[in-house]
Amino acid sequence: MQPLKVAMLGCGVVGSEVAARLQSRAEALEERIGAPLELTAVVVRDAQKERPGIDPNLLTTDAEAAIAGADIVIELMGGIEPAKSLITSALAQGSSVVTANKALLAAAYGELMAAADETEVRLEHEAAVAGAIPIIRPVGDSLAGDRIDRIMGIVNGTTNYILDQMDSQGWDFSDALSSAQELGYAEADPTADIGGHDAAAKAAILSSLAFHAPVTIDDVHVEGITGITAEMVETAKDQGFVIKLLAVCERVEDSPAGPGLSARVYPALLPRTHPLASVHGAFNAVFIEAEAAGSLMFYGQGAGGAPTASAVLGDVVSVARRRVLGGRGQYERPLHPETTLLPISA
Ligand code: NAP
Ligand code: HSE
Repeated sequence: MQPLKVAMLGCGVVGSEVAARLQSRAEALEERIGAPLELTAVVVRDAQKERPGIDPNLLTTDAEAAIAGADIVIELMGGIEPAKSLITSALAQGSSVVTANKALLAAAYGELMAAADETEVRLEHEAAVAGAIPIIRPVGDSLAGDRIDRIMGIVNGTTNYILDQMDSQGWDFSDALSSAQELGYAEADPTADIGGHDAAAKAAILSSLAFHAPVTIDDVHVEGITGITAEMVETAKDQGFVIKLLAVCERVEDSPAGPGLSARVYPALLPRTHPLASVHGAFNAVFIEAEAAGSLMFYGQGAGGAPTASAVLGDVVSVARRRVLGGRGQYERPLHPETTLLPISA
């Protein structure tokens, strides 16, 4: 089988982890896909910078040339432009696209999906919401036959890490933010995290999928955590509460404006006994209420290079399988013949 050509746009916190795993897991990925993946180009702003583990010959600043002829384009540069134009070009030439770019998806979801429909290719984005936690497929596919009434939870790792460090270690806001940046949790511009806009982008994406409606970030009420002081965190703690940045997306039947959808992001006071109070560090947790399924809970690492790379690579395997196997897409390959099944113990 011919290798599938993969072009990667961006090689920062997430991209470097994806590139490392494309190499270290090459054999396993080939086995799952049915064809090898060949990384043909890695687009960066500074092609002279040393990037451990990346073949310098792959580094380029010429994004258009890099995506030309690629079977799969992985967009991990972030921001609206040039990411949007590059994804649109990639889709137009028939490449499958995988992105983690929630800011772009929350601004242009419908437009990008229509571009993917034009050439009948996939645009996958599991990594755009809640890092390693599988949430896009559950909301968009697994629950598509149900009626989702509410999605609520912590969807930004940086702010959860900051609030948690302030609460548990007594750190001040700016030290906690610097640490979140060093750990690779924050966006290139961390005002998107602390201002609540990153969580709002995720709320817009989840709402669009859950409620089958074109919800953009402009439809989401946003309050961030920039006004939260060490004193507020301490006072909340003394009174048995914890402050968490929540995203809530729900159907509202009895608003003064009549029935409709509401999506909002705001810092909330939660009793320390609340399940979300025990979500620490950069972890995320999402609760879903659906008519037939009832309550569902998702929990895991919501930010950082390796957890996000896991979600990106899952999408890469998914789109690659479709290219190899056609409409069968999610074909499950059997266990490797040499895998040993342990005897069942009595
Ligand atoms: P990052 O560390 O800032 O890396 C961005 C990469 O893109 C860098 O390699 C940069 O090149 C390159 N780049 C940026 N603008 C470019 C341009 N105009 N032309 C060419 N290359 C450009 O960002 P990240 O944290 O990896 O995030 C990447 C994407 O994943 C974003 O959409 C982000 O929202 C999303 N995401 C991040 C996380 C996380 O935990 N970090 C989690 C989920 C989703 P240089 O290296 O030369 O500067
Ligand atoms: N900056 C984001 C966060 C990355 O902290 O949640 C994961 O989307």
